[in-house]
Amino acid sequence: MTTTPPQITVLDAGGQYCHLIARKIRDLGVYADVRPSDTPAEELRGRKGLIISGGPDSVYETDSSRIDPAILAQGSAVLGICYGQQLMAHELGGHVRKGTKGEYGLAVLERTKPHALFADLNGDSQVWMNHRDQVESVPDGFDVLAKTDTCAVAAMAHRDRPLMAVQFHPEVVHTPQGHKILSNFVFRVCGCTPDWDPKDRIRPLEGEIRSVAGDRNVFFFVSGGVDSTVAYTLCLRALGPERVYGIYVDTGLMREGETEHVRRLFAQLGATAFHVETTDAEFLSALAGVCDPEKKRHIIGEQFVAVQERVLNTGHFLDGHWILGQGTIYPDTIESGGTARADVIKTHHNRVAGIQKLIDAGRIIEPLSSFYKDEVREIGAELGIPGEFLHRHPFPGPGLAIRCLCSQTTAPVERREPGWLLPIRSVGVKGDSRSYQSVLALENLPADELATEVVNRSMDINRVVGMVKSRAAMSAMRSTVGSLTRERLQRLRHADVIVRRLSAESGFEDKVWQFPVVLIPLGAAGAPDSIVLRPIHSVDGMTAQVVRMPDALLLKMADELLAVDGICAVFYDLTHKPPGTIEWE
Ligand code: XMP
Repeated sequence: MTTTPPQITVLDAGGQYCHLIARKIRDLGVYADVRPSDTPAEELRGRKGLIISGGPDSVYETDSSRIDPAILAQGSAVLGICYGQQLMAHELGGHVRKGTKGEYGLAVLERTKPHALFADLNGDSQVWMNHRDQVESVPDGFDVLAKTDTCAVAAMAHRDRPLMAVQFHPEVVHTPQGHKILSNFVFRVCGCTPDWDPKDRIRPLEGEIRSVAGDRNVFFFVSGGVDSTVAYTLCLRALGPERVYGIYVDTGLMREGETEHVRRLFAQLGATAFHVETTDAEFLSALAGVCDPEKKRHIIGEQFVAVQERVLNTGHFLDGHWILGQGTIYPDTIESGGTARADVIKTHHNRVAGIQKLIDAGRIIEPLSSFYKDEVREIGAELGIPGEFLHRHPFPGPGLAIRCLCSQTTAPVERREPGWLLPIRSVGVKGDSRSYQSVLALENLPADELATEVVNRSMDINRVVGMVKSRAAMSAMRSTVGSLTRERLQRLRHADVIVRRLSAESGFEDKVWQFPVVLIPLGAAGAPDSIVLRPIHSVDGMTAQVVRMPDALLLKMADELLAVDGICAVFYDLTHKPPGTIEWE
C-alpha cells in the first residue's frame, strides 16, 4: 500500500533511529521506506537517494550489519549516518578506529569545508553524537567536512561522486539544524520532488480495502487506541457499517469510564456492529494473589488469548465470509525496527491459533502497515475522528495491572542516606536488560540532579521518589500485603481520575507525554497504600525525562489524593528512563 518505487530508501543497520530518519524524510513530503541494510543493490535501483542508518555494531565484528558495496557505485546519492558513515568509510578503504570511550550527547560541530549538505544552515552548530568507534582516515577521494572536539571526522564527502556521511545524528531534535541537513540531502543533493501526503492516501486505501475484502466482511479486536481505531474507520468508510464488526474486550483492568469512552467513540464513528466482551471476573480471578510483574503480564496475555479464541469460535468469524482487520503500523512490520518494547498483548494476539490460521490463509487486512504513528493521526483527523481521541496519552495494553504494585509480605522502611529504602521493588532498565530493584524515597522534593546522582551511585536501587505529602511519618511506614483486588484497583482508579481531572483543568496534561499514576502497597495506620505520580516527557517511550509540575498544582493534587480512602502518602517519581522504566509494573 505504498507509492512505488520510493525516491528515498533508508537502509536499516540496526539502529533505533532508522524509523526516525524515514519519518523525518516523510515530514519533508517525500516518501521513504526502510529496508534491511544488506538489501541487494539490484533491488534498490532507481532510488534517488539511499541513507545508511546508525546501528549498534562495530564494522570489525564478524556478524555486524553490512551493505551491498555495489550501492556505492550505482549512481544513487548515498548518505551514511553514524554507523552508516563508518560502514561507508570501511567499504571504500578508509580506516575506522575502535573506540575505547564513547562520545554520547551534545557536541559542537566545526565545519571545515563547504558542501551542499550544509547549505543555508544558520549559526547553530549543536549536534548530537552517540558512538564509540569513529572514522580515523577517510577513503581516497573523500574530504573531511567537519569535526568536533573529540571526533576528527564528524562529516565527510566524496569530491566527485554523490557519497557523503555524518558521524552525528541529524534526525534527532538535539541536532537543531538536522532537519535542514536532511532537507539539503533530499532536495539539493538527490533532486527529489515532493510526492507524499498521508491524507492523499485515504481514497486509494479505501479502494484497496474493497478489493482485498471482495465480498467478505471484516472484524477487528479494537482497544480504543489510535491505530486500531483509524484502521477500523478506514474499513468502515470503504465497506459500510454493516460489513465491519468491532469487538472490545473489557478486562476489568481499564481506567474509570474507559469502556463507556470506547463505546461512545465507536458510536460517533458510525459503528453499528460493535460488541463489548465483559471479562473482568475471569481476569481478576486468574490474577488473584499474583505479585510478580512478569507473572502478571503472562497471565494477562494468556487470558486475552483465551477470550479471543472464544469470541472467534462463537462468532462464526472463522468461516469464509470474514477476514481479520488489524491496526498494524509500519514500525511493527519490520523486525529490527525501533520497537524494542515488546507489546505483550500484541505478541499474544499473534499466538492465538484462530488468528494465526487467518493470517496464514491471507485472510487479513492491515491498511496502516506503511504508516507511522503521526501519519496515522493525520489520517484519523482527515477521517473526522475527534482530536480528543487521537491525541490521548498512550495507555499500556495490560492496563492498570502494571500500575498496581503488589506485595505478599510486610516489612518496615529502612534508613538509608539521603532518604529511606522502601521495601518495594520496581522494574527499570540497565544497559539492554530489565532490572527489578528497590526504591529510595527522599523526605522532600529535591532538585532533579540529586535524584539522578543517587541512582547512579547506588548499585541496588533503580528509582528515587520524593515525598510530596503524607498522613504518617516516613519512619512509620511499612509495605503491606496487597494484590490485584477489586478494592485496590478501585482505589487506583479513584486516584487516577483525580490526577487526570486536575491535569486537564490546569493544562499540565498537554505538557507531558504520559502520566502514569501508580498504587504501591506502602502505608501506615489503617491506610495500606500510597500513590506515586510519574509525569514524563518522551518521544517514543524508549527514553523518558521527568517533568516537574507547578507546586500549587502538586499540593492541590496531593490533598485530594490523601482524602481517598486507604491512601497514606503521595510520592513523585524523580527517575528518568533509563534507569527507571516509565511503568512500575
Ligand atoms: P516502559 O515501562 O517500558 O514503557 O518504560 C514504555 C512505554 O510502553 C508502554 N507499555 C506498553 N504498551 N502494551 C502496550 O501497548 C504493553 O504491554 C506495554 N507495556 C508498557 C508504557 O505505557 C510506555 O508508554
